[in-house]
Amino acid sequence: MAKLIVFNWKNKIYKTEEALKLARISDLKNSVICPPFFLFNQIKPIIKKSELGSQNVFLSEQICTGEITANTLKNLGVKYAIIGHSERRCFLKEDDKLINKKVLACFKGGLKSILCVGESKKMKESAIFNFIKNQLINNLKGINSDLASKFLIVAYEPVWAIGAGNYCKPKKVLEIIKFIKRTLSSKFHILNFRVLYGGSVDSQNIADFLKYKEIDGTLIGGASVNPQELKKIVQKYENFK
Ligand code: 13P
Repeated sequence: MAKLIVFNWKNKIYKTEEALKLARISDLKNSVICPPFFLFNQIKPIIKKSELGSQNVFLSEQICTGEITANTLKNLGVKYAIIGHSERRCFLKEDDKLINKKVLACFKGGLKSILCVGESKKMKESAIFNFIKNQLINNLKGINSDLASKFLIVAYEPVWAIGAGNYCKPKKVLEIIKFIKRTLSSKFHILNFRVLYGGSVDSQNIADFLKYKEIDGTLIGGASVNPQELKKIVQKYENFK
């Protein structure tokens, strides 16, 4: 499977010119650009190879002020949605039950869900595997394994590494990603899926993650909104195609 690179702009970009500049640099095969919602329509016409991703999705199709549903996203040409990002788990108190509903809503609506899991800094080394296993079990309750093989992507994002300039060592990431893959195959019988790494990925370290065949790509925040850094990331990423 080709490596996937996902650019999560978070709420850092709001000017159209800035967005278009970043989108042009990010426009690669097997890449996903996740801008704030209000920029979808501006970016869509200029990207030729990339896909659009949402940073969130509502838990169902019911009416709810301020939310955006899987069907709406699909109609806007969006193919992916990030679910369970630690910033939402932390600041908006999104819990496993809600995240599970969002994953199911994505599958139902035909969106690929990029499910974020990962431990916080305070956790003991020995507890990390169990914590992630529980996140997967709770977030993926009731999923259909055939749909999951089509629509599920997992991103391992240790909370302490996000926006910190302090990434998780690639060998450790490899160990955890192998564990996630074993868990998804044994507990959910999912055959075909990607697991990405996210947390302070930049042009200096991206190759150290992508060189492992088990690490199927990266989810990038801060470095994806810095045009100079983004260009360097793209150059490094091109070597792994
Ligand atoms: P940074 O790349 O800024 O650490 O953010 C990672 C992230 O949260 C991507 O979803």
